[in-house]
Amino acid sequence: MSRDALLKVRPARPLVAPSILAADFATLGEECRAVMDAGADLLHLDVMDGHFVPNLTMGPDLCRSLRETLPDVLLDVHLMVTHPADFIRPFADAGADHVTVHLEAEGEPEALCAATHAAGLTAGLALNPPTDVEAILPHLDPFDLILVMSVNPGFAGQSFIPDVLEKTRVIAGRLRDDQRLEMDGGIDPRTAPDCRTAGCDLLVAASAIFKTEDYGAAIATLRGSVEAGTRSG
Ligand code: DX5
Ligand code: ZN
Repeated sequence: MSRDALLKVRPARPLVAPSILAADFATLGEECRAVMDAGADLLHLDVMDGHFVPNLTMGPDLCRSLRETLPDVLLDVHLMVTHPADFIRPFADAGADHVTVHLEAEGEPEALCAATHAAGLTAGLALNPPTDVEAILPHLDPFDLILVMSVNPGFAGQSFIPDVLEKTRVIAGRLRDDQRLEMDGGIDPRTAPDCRTAGCDLLVAASAIFKTEDYGAAIATLRGSVEAGTRSG
């Protein structure tokens, strides 16, 4: 399937998006190529501004380098920044395919969605664990993807917050077939089955993929192709 269509069609099994936050930045291109060769569906880029979250990570130039190295891979940019409107166009120009902004950030969700579509990208809206599900329900319609955070954003390697599964089920019941439901944070072989059961069809994982020896086995297990603890097929 072309990368343009990847987020528009309900997958038979969840898509798996390695977050490059837990990769070795000194060999990032090679790690990204390896994880795609191992069966990943797309790459997730965690962009942090040191203000919306207490960490600094990557900007458009890194996205541009990945686009040049991996021309056919869908690049999913997760903006954990206070002013997302300033960064949609720079990431579009750098070759991103998709941008997700946070409900808790500055700006009207509908305006940010329109700006993302105008830049030629698909658009996502994220909500943090403390944010009530009622706050996002009025904004679902124009978005191509909703991202439920299952950790408080800022760092890889945190523990999954199971309370978010209930609001995930509520959101899953409101989405159309052409809208994806992504979950991000603390997803590993133990927590992934609950994410899938709650209706997620796009699973982000950093540590549970990049901190393992066998990327293919890790991806297959998260996707549900094999059960945790058994060897991948
Ligand atoms: C958290 C980021 C996540 C993070 C996930 O702020 O948005 O994408 O990298 O890391 P793991 O999978 O290690 O929890
Ligand atoms: Zn993320």
